[in-house]
Amino acid sequence: MNSPVESTPSRPDQWWRSAVVYQIYPRSFQDSNGDGIGDLRGIIDRLDYLAELGVDVLWLSPVYRSPQVDNGYDISDYRDIDPLFGTLADLDELLAQAHRRGIKLVMDLVVNHTSDQHPWFIESRDPGSAKRDWYFWRPARPGGTAGAPGAEPDDNPAAFAPSAWTYDPTSGEYYLGIFSPGQPDLNWENPDVRQAVYAMMRWWVDRGVDGFRMDVINLISKPAELTTGNPLDLGQGSLRRVANGPRLDEFLAEMNREVGLDEHNLLTVGEMPGATIEVAQRVTDPARHELNMVFTFEHVNLDQSSWSKWDLADLPLPVLKGNLAQWQEGLAEAGWNSLYYDNHDQPRAVSRFGDDSPEHRVNSAKTLATVLHLHKGTPYIYQGEEFGMTNAPLTEIGHYLDVESLNYHALATAGGVAEEQVLRSLAAKGRDHARTPVQWDDTDHAGFTTGTPWIPVNPNHREINAQSARRDPDSVFGHFQRLIRLRHDDQTVREGRFQLLLPDHQQLWAFTRTLGDDTLLVLANCSSAPAEIPSEQLPALDGAGVVLGTHPGGGESRLAPWESRILRLQPSS
Ligand code: NOJ
Repeated sequence: MNSPVESTPSRPDQWWRSAVVYQIYPRSFQDSNGDGIGDLRGIIDRLDYLAELGVDVLWLSPVYRSPQVDNGYDISDYRDIDPLFGTLADLDELLAQAHRRGIKLVMDLVVNHTSDQHPWFIESRDPGSAKRDWYFWRPARPGGTAGAPGAEPDDNPAAFAPSAWTYDPTSGEYYLGIFSPGQPDLNWENPDVRQAVYAMMRWWVDRGVDGFRMDVINLISKPAELTTGNPLDLGQGSLRRVANGPRLDEFLAEMNREVGLDEHNLLTVGEMPGATIEVAQRVTDPARHELNMVFTFEHVNLDQSSWSKWDLADLPLPVLKGNLAQWQEGLAEAGWNSLYYDNHDQPRAVSRFGDDSPEHRVNSAKTLATVLHLHKGTPYIYQGEEFGMTNAPLTEIGHYLDVESLNYHALATAGGVAEEQVLRSLAAKGRDHARTPVQWDDTDHAGFTTGTPWIPVNPNHREINAQSARRDPDSVFGHFQRLIRLRHDDQTVREGRFQLLLPDHQQLWAFTRTLGDDTLLVLANCSSAPAEIPSEQLPALDGAGVVLGTHPGGGESRLAPWESRILRLQPSS
């Protein structure tokens, strides 16, 4: 059992500025009981692996009780563990065992919405109940017959369903679910809702957790139209338009105060679709006591041609690096960045931003990591990224399990989009790519389970797996270990000022990090062709030493495909 005195690690002020976080999607991480679904005991069994990698923090995607409409992002009991994943005792043990290894644990916090099976929502279905106002209930639109097609309060779609409104025959009204009918939105305007959430968070803090990753937290303050009961015309891309509402900062500051987030030095990261640099500056300014950092979506929305992620577009390197540079500049003074390429909602980094062909997979995974981990902020590694896991061969609709992909396929094909085009979009952006099981070894189910995995293992696990990567010092895994160590050891990596160089270069991602007299130069060839180093446009390289490179040597004037180098420049005299 957890013995807090012995196993709770200290949390110095702003400790998360030097930390590297590892995201676990528990369902796909490690199964311990043969039911084909990853679980908490499976995570405990892999803690030594995570300690060997060297990460400081684990973020657990939701393991609470849930009907699993959206794989746990629909919670029916915030204070219990879903039996799929284990028990509260298992969670306590995971926490204690992680702490014993000096690793902290951050929980996912999903409080923009609950499950429709949560007791709060069940009670709210009764129009006379004190909880009616905990959710958004609205009558049919004027002139509409409640429950009839087209009578929803407005025309807004949900993210994973045709309408954001679901009819409830018992009360003759509709409730709002911005994601899906199984995920009704909580009404944060009601102070009792907020206090109930804070009480639950304090309960977890008392249990010893080290922070929260806050799901779509910038959606909690809804636009005025919604809170005053009027119809709301969000149009396309509706998610974005309910974001960053008028009371967001007020709610976040209140949460921080009431839960003691800063007082306990907890890590707080808010997932914020549609958040601009200005919003992030406000939210992460330490003087305002809201959150430590946010997950921006700007860089993962660049390879789309419209508000919809399914409308694919090419992503030239200058656009990607320019966007990250803007965030570096925007949060350079006050505030702090989170750094990520992928997570359980995004395609695999090496398949999306790198080159996952057998020839270039290893070097492109390494070089992408070099670039990200040398930016200023807190880097996040998504399970499997540390040894270069790729997208899965998902080629027909029967290969997909995710509610988002299935909904998109149904709506798009019904709307006349050609099946091949829909499948092309799904193959590029579907969330199931990130959710295939972690490939631990080359055995039948990749060491993930002795049963039948809930989602098929990527067949490339025979070549790409953690076991072979750990045996090879030159592997992607070894490179991640070195990058993590570098961040721990090197103050310039943690705190140095960022400056982008060669912003228009189509192949090279080049930048410096400077702290006092010390300057690191990162040169990364983000292409599958060799690239000349344009020395005349760079700081003087004489006497520069290679801190870490993907290839041996380092004095040459050209970079091999997907080669990168971190150089320490001679101080100018
Ligand atoms: C963001 C989560 O990361 C995603 O997986 C989920 O579907 C939505 N929020 C709704 O909770």
